[in-house]
Amino acid sequence: MGFSFDLQATDGSARTGVINTPRGDIRTPAFMPVGTAATVKAMMPESVRETGADILLGNTYHLMLRPGAERVASLGGLHRFMNWDRPILTDSGGFQVMSLAGLRKLTEKGVTFKSHIDGSKYELTPERSMEIQALLGSDIVMCFDECPALPATDEEVARAMRLSMRWAERSKDAFGDRPGHALFGIMQGGVTRELREESAKALVEIGFDGYAVGGLAVGEGQEAMFGVLDYACDSLPKDKPRYLMGVGKPDDIVGAVKRGIDMMDCVLPSRSGRTGQVFTRYGQLNIKNARHMDDTRPLDEACSCPACRNYSRAYLHHLFRSQEILSSMLLTWHNLQYYQDVMDGMRSAIANRNFAAWEENFHAERARGDI
Ligand code: GUN
Ligand code: ZN
Repeated sequence: MGFSFDLQATDGSARTGVINTPRGDIRTPAFMPVGTAATVKAMMPESVRETGADILLGNTYHLMLRPGAERVASLGGLHRFMNWDRPILTDSGGFQVMSLAGLRKLTEKGVTFKSHIDGSKYELTPERSMEIQALLGSDIVMCFDECPALPATDEEVARAMRLSMRWAERSKDAFGDRPGHALFGIMQGGVTRELREESAKALVEIGFDGYAVGGLAVGEGQEAMFGVLDYACDSLPKDKPRYLMGVGKPDDIVGAVKRGIDMMDCVLPSRSGRTGQVFTRYGQLNIKNARHMDDTRPLDEACSCPACRNYSRAYLHHLFRSQEILSSMLLTWHNLQYYQDVMDGMRSAIANRNFAAWEENFHAERARGDI
């Protein structure tokens, strides 16, 4: 039983299908909750599953520093370690080194850096990243890449993209032949069409099980991001999954799916849950706001999550104000449930070929605002 992608229906550029893996099916378009440090913060894995998630994201960078990839392997792999037996996608580390680590040095070979936890020195190369992701037991492995911080000159974006393409080739060689496990390439090239197309061509020539669009949601804005997605998906194979990395807000996700994206991940629903930001069909609300103090209604009467089934806004406001741990747990659950409900709605709409009507209703409900 290997790794495969069945495209089941399209509606315009939007697609729905299933990625088959030995650890279970991933229904697409899929949203992947972020479990950076072998946990989706404030959630038990079985609760994450209850929201409808088919796959989680884990991070090479964090796990190599703590508890260490070799330790996770000797403890039976990441799935067993964190009690999640369904698919896991791991990011390769390059992006996190650039945003989190201290004292980085980038060469053709890879990156050396100091841990943001204790300052000790590490090296990441395409070869070491593939080794770590194999030690973790990741089902979907990401190529080691460099994502330049924007704004950057065209020259700098081109240099980073071409280095990432050489690293993609080394990643593929180092990954080897691992039946049931997939390796995804990562397109770079900023917001420049020629660079994006050069990147796509290089990746397709190497050949991957799926293709990610990287280097977006790094400060370019939604319009520029959608501008790239308008052509990026056309340069990628139709029969492989397409993954937009690190995106995004609910309307970013809907716009990405509309343009042909199959998979996404973002810390937003989980992180916002811990800061009191709540996503609902009628837009975003902050539970800290005094207007919720005496409100007996749930966050969303149509939501099936425990926060909405069993608790009032007044209680959730109280928990947040009192800095109770249960506040993070309930709000994270609700936000993840909302994201999975949006994905479910899009999958059905695409299958029924009424995505345009679904999207119109999605925007109309949000425009109504919280009541
Ligand atoms: N997460 C968000 N964007 C990126 C990217 O460009 N590369 C990688 N590896 N991870 C990401
Ligand atoms: Zn809810």
